[in-house]
Amino acid sequence: MTWHHVADTADLAGCEVIGREAGGRRIALYRLDDGYFATSDLCTHGNALLSGGAVVEGYIECPAHFGLFAIRTGKAGGAPVTRDLQTFPVRVAEGRIEVEIEG
Ligand code: FES
Repeated sequence: MTWHHVADTADLAGCEVIGREAGGRRIALYRLDDGYFATSDLCTHGNALLSGGAVVEGYIECPAHFGLFAIRTGKAGGAPVTRDLQTFPVRVAEGRIEVEIEG
């Protein structure tokens, strides 16, 4: 497992989700009231990037078919999404946001 610097806190100052690449993976990075979180950016239902969706009360809403995933746990929120998202540990130090990814 390796920590990857994926963004700075300033990158999320004006928004709640951005997309990044790290360790060969597409990552969605979120800013919520209680901190920063990371999930796979690719929806488990189809070929859509969640970083293009909307954050609604702790959930990310997929822009393609409006499936919901709990951002903190990756848990699928019901039809049409049934498979959970992968989540990644996040740490923040001196304005740097790092995500731990295999490899
Ligand atoms: S691709 Fe995300 S809900 Fe269908």
